[in-house]
Amino acid sequence: MGDGFIELDGVEKVFSVRRRAGLLRRERHEVRAVDGISFTVPRGEMVGYIGPNGAGKSTTIKMLTGILTPSGGRLRIAGLDPSRQRALLARRMGVVFGQRTTLWWDLPLRDSYALVRRMYRVPEARFRANLDRCVELLDLGGLLDVPVRQLSLGQRMRGDITAALLHDPEVLYLDEPTIGLDVVTKATVRRFLRELNAERGTTVLLTTHDLTDIEQLCERVMVIDHGRLVYDGALGGLHEIGESERTLVVDLERELPPIEGIDGARTVRTQGPRQWLAFPSSASAAPLVARIAADYPLVDLSVREPDIEEVIARMYAGR
Ligand SMILES: Nc1ncnc2c1ncn2[C@@H]1O[C@H](COP(=O)(O)OP(=O)(O)O)[C@@H](O)[C@H]1O
Ligand SMILES: [Mg+2]
Repeated sequence: MGDGFIELDGVEKVFSVRRRAGLLRRERHEVRAVDGISFTVPRGEMVGYIGPNGAGKSTTIKMLTGILTPSGGRLRIAGLDPSRQRALLARRMGVVFGQRTTLWWDLPLRDSYALVRRMYRVPEARFRANLDRCVELLDLGGLLDVPVRQLSLGQRMRGDITAALLHDPEVLYLDEPTIGLDVVTKATVRRFLRELNAERGTTVLLTTHDLTDIEQLCERVMVIDHGRLVYDGALGGLHEIGESERTLVVDLERELPPIEGIDGARTVRTQGPRQWLAFPSSASAAPLVARIAADYPLVDLSVREPDIEEVIARMYAGR
């Protein structure tokens, strides 16, 4: 592979879940959360990773950090395999999950940070310098002795970001770090991240619902939809996604091999008796439905508009 700091080649994550199928029966079926993703991020870059809910963003981040093991493909961070060399990589990466704190709920921030320091064996002087810097830039003065449970969401998030950076990680993964934050805190966090990336050269992968985050922080944005990378480039080019595909979701009487031979449509996914067929947004669904109904035991169907277009349209509309 190339010389990327983060390298993914056909990475997949399939979850096997059990779902109720009647009163007593449970069926196993597969959820393809990440469906063959390839990208490279050079050292020092700050990239946005966006997509609708359930697209596979958090699952990707969990694989990058080694929390989850890919079901397929190849993933390397600085040449290391996160799921096998997690301890080695832990010292070199920081991660922040916006929906969940990594801090100790009952402890004041100061004590949480002392634990982090011992966990990563950060030299005292380094720890001091990093903490002082974060306290100043993230405006944490006066909060260090407050138990985490008493902090507001914005305060806690700034506390979490600090915790992720005390050991000087080379790469920082942020999963929705600005979700639910007020405007002022968002601005503080953005300014901080921009400086971190510019001055320390920290590589940053940022998941967000806020287009302003991307606009102000990332020259490059990757868009993921249904577990696949559908765009990788400048933010301005996102408008192009407009001419994409719609999806026909077909429920058959039973599990069958992927539907074939329907002109203008291709089966992109199957899950038990359910199959997904992609077709051009400009085409009518009616002839496809007629063909499928004629050849297959059709129970139900629906047409799904591309989620990502919706999300991006909403993002642009909200500005
Ligand atoms: N542990 C799990 N077990 C089963 N399914 C999961 C699990 N984690 C995530 N999923 C499914 O994988 C898909 C992607 O989820 P996720 O990566 O959290 O999406 P995003 O972060 O983009 O909203 C969703 O359909 C979700 O329900
Ligand atoms: Mg998520």
